[in-house]
Amino acid sequence: MNKLRPAMQNGKRATREIMEAAKPKRQRTKTAKQEGTTKAVSPSTFHTFPDPADVAQLRCQLLNWYDKEKRELPWRTLAITEPDLNIRTYAVWVSEIMLQQTQVATVKDYYNKWMKRWPTVQDLASATLEEVNQMWAGLGYYSRGKRLHEGAQKVVTELKGQMPQTVDGLLKQLPGVGRYTAAAIGSIALGQVTGAVDGNVIRVLCRLRAIGADSTSPAVTEALWSLINMLVDPERPGDFNQAMMELGARVCTPKGPVCNQCPVKSHCHSYHKVHVKQEQKSKKLLRKLEGEMSALPDIEDCVNSGKCPLCPSEPWDDELGVQNFPRKPAKKPPRVERTLTFVVIRVGDEGEDEYLLTQRPNKGLLAGLWEFPCLLLEEGSSETKQRRALCTVISRILGAPVTESLCQYVGEVVHIFSHIHQTYVVHSVRLKNGDTQTQTKNAQWLSRSALQEAAVSTGVKKIVKLYDSVASQNEQASRGGKRKKLGVNNDKKTQSSKKTKLSAMKSGGKQLSLSSFFKAVKEES
Ligand code: ADE
Repeated sequence: MNKLRPAMQNGKRATREIMEAAKPKRQRTKTAKQEGTTKAVSPSTFHTFPDPADVAQLRCQLLNWYDKEKRELPWRTLAITEPDLNIRTYAVWVSEIMLQQTQVATVKDYYNKWMKRWPTVQDLASATLEEVNQMWAGLGYYSRGKRLHEGAQKVVTELKGQMPQTVDGLLKQLPGVGRYTAAAIGSIALGQVTGAVDGNVIRVLCRLRAIGADSTSPAVTEALWSLINMLVDPERPGDFNQAMMELGARVCTPKGPVCNQCPVKSHCHSYHKVHVKQEQKSKKLLRKLEGEMSALPDIEDCVNSGKCPLCPSEPWDDELGVQNFPRKPAKKPPRVERTLTFVVIRVGDEGEDEYLLTQRPNKGLLAGLWEFPCLLLEEGSSETKQRRALCTVISRILGAPVTESLCQYVGEVVHIFSHIHQTYVVHSVRLKNGDTQTQTKNAQWLSRSALQEAAVSTGVKKIVKLYDSVASQNEQASRGGKRKKLGVNNDKKTQSSKKTKLSAMKSGGKQLSLSSFFKAVKEES
């Protein structure tokens, strides 16, 4: 069975770049070319743009469309209006890092806040990592913020405050900057003539030139970079690259592409196959039926077909249309995890509720972020036993005993990371007044307003929302005289009946749908 599937998800920007960036630059994966594993294959002209007149026309059509249709985005405006090259490079760097794996609409607000707070690389360098994490909270893939911060400190301490001014310099000097990001910053901020291949561009090029081999393979990767470097407009490289991305994001979309609005459809082999060849096919069929034999060869196919490293190994699927391209290998299914999580509450000095948060390690998933005390549930071990174990952890943090009898079941929250399907099994633990001072460095009590501002992940925010909803539901029930406390009982029967009650949860008097709790937000990798 073929494991390849059409790559149709949106916005998968530079994922591999993020993963790659996690490794020291010395250890990064060599390209096939560097390794000498890809034989020098010259793709058939079917997969390239052999005619310079076509290239000129495509540039012109694409840029005209972009000039009319482009979205006004803060980083685009800055890249045009900011006269200081150092600030411009910094501003585009920030935008490109935020746009890795995050949609434009989400990035806009974060970007504006970030640039207001840290308008120069020097400002960012003097911030603390805690402040950066706080600013990044909710954007996902938190290592990106950390690397921006590290990069800014490097620029200030090692490069005299000067951002690198070449694609090569950006690639070599800045942590978290890979081939795509360096090319994007270089072309957009510095006007360097280089193409940039991100997820959107992969899709556009694969469809334009009918490249159906695994789009993550070294052969296809190299072919796409060669193609874009040949296509890029030497007068307006930054606009050309952004126009390609914009086309991929708005017209040549993963699902439901709007080919009739495409400014370059006349160059698109996939469009041709769907819209023109279908017509030809029916005409041929008609002629056959009329007894005329059509012996004309199909001159528009790849001449290397059968042994071409860029052609699909699977036949064209009429139902998919242009979505036959690109193709990439099926993803490994995410690891399934359940994590026991305690929302521990005490009444603070001011009389308001405070919540216990612990800090994650400085490396790995959600590095350095704050979360509720939690414990990965092990299969085969009873939940009671594990609740007891988490109570012991909390007792150690507080230097005072916390017993299981204080645990009240709240509900479950599902959160999807790129490689983990996480379910938080949430309990609340309300501590009586007494000695609840934290004894360890990586734990703190936060008021509700401080929690709202803290460097926490989207998973934590969802847990807070669930907790509030159940609390408010209980409050309403108690006002109605049928008070039933937050999951007082921990037995399985009560828990499952509570789970079904989630659908009736209310938040601040507002009805929340069940799906809002279980909404799968994709976050960190
Ligand atoms: N994705 C990555 N860079 C982008 C840009 N400059 N504009 C829109 N989307 C992008």
